[in-house]
Amino acid sequence: MEIMVRPDSMQRITTSALANKFINDQITSIRNQVGDKKVLLALSGGVDSSVVAALLIKAIGKQLVCVHVNHGLMRKGESEQVIKVFGNTLNANLIYIDATERFLIKLENVSDPEKKRKIIGSEFINVFAEQAGKLDGISFLAQGTIYPDILESKGVKAHHNVGGLPENLNFELVEPLALLFKDEVRVVGEALGLPHTMVYRQPFPGPGLGVRCLGAITRDRLHALREADAILREEFDKCGLAEKVWQYFIVVPDLRSVGVKDGNRYEGWPAIIRAINTTDAMSATIEEIPYSVLHTITDRITAEVKGINRVLFDLTPKPVGTIEWE
Ligand code: XMP
Repeated sequence: MEIMVRPDSMQRITTSALANKFINDQITSIRNQVGDKKVLLALSGGVDSSVVAALLIKAIGKQLVCVHVNHGLMRKGESEQVIKVFGNTLNANLIYIDATERFLIKLENVSDPEKKRKIIGSEFINVFAEQAGKLDGISFLAQGTIYPDILESKGVKAHHNVGGLPENLNFELVEPLALLFKDEVRVVGEALGLPHTMVYRQPFPGPGLGVRCLGAITRDRLHALREADAILREEFDKCGLAEKVWQYFIVVPDLRSVGVKDGNRYEGWPAIIRAINTTDAMSATIEEIPYSVLHTITDRITAEVKGINRVLFDLTPKPVGTIEWE
């Protein structure tokens, strides 16, 4: 695969004027690349794929076919929101596939992080290939790859959205954001008219909760993670931290400790809170969360989420820790 390199001369996109220039240039080059063919897009609902979708809708309209695959590793309510925003409001050509069972069966008993990523990545490709087979004339696959994905794919991590497609698929890639950093993607998204809440939504990795349900994924632990994550998001929304913190989430390791609940021994998993700030995801600092907020979150998670009996806060910046745990 040809490695893309951001030229030193490339200006950082910080204003809507620069974003508009980028958008116009990309519209021209997307139209040149695609012609009258159809493009398939994996629309996860994250910032990157949402911005790619908006850009492509502007460039080629209904030639874009958005496919939202629910791999069973989405955050609570996320697939529903994708359908609402893109299917209803933006009137995109949207196909929804619930592939939860397929993914979870393939992931059973797989604990190695890179294997998990590869399974999720290749299953994605399988779902798309099947979907493309059912559609007429799909020639291109659009992806929300951004520059840090490219930089970090050189040995650090096998991100599912970098690394190319199997040779036997005849899709050519359309990756209009490949040279942009995250903050630039957001400026472009706003210039495209996407809602502020969508553009400033925190990033969510392609493999989703799969990289936060550490080790071999089980349905009960995945469910606990999703519920705890929803509580964290709700509480951050309430106290204004959602606007302020770049990325925040829960990690649930495959580890039980002893606890006590209602006078009985209660073995459970810990929920680990991660809340980081960064501009480009290459390094990150830790947000200072008020203790009162941490206590509220702890009380709610331990009371409301079955299987969780402790809440921890991760104080590790990047480096040394990566943002995700896997
Ligand atoms: P790390 O953990 O490498 O994460 O410090 C940097 C940023 O990338 C996101 N991330 C991913 N995004 N597929 C993605 O699309 C992945 O497999 C993946 N892993 C990490 C992470 O959430 C953070 O924003």
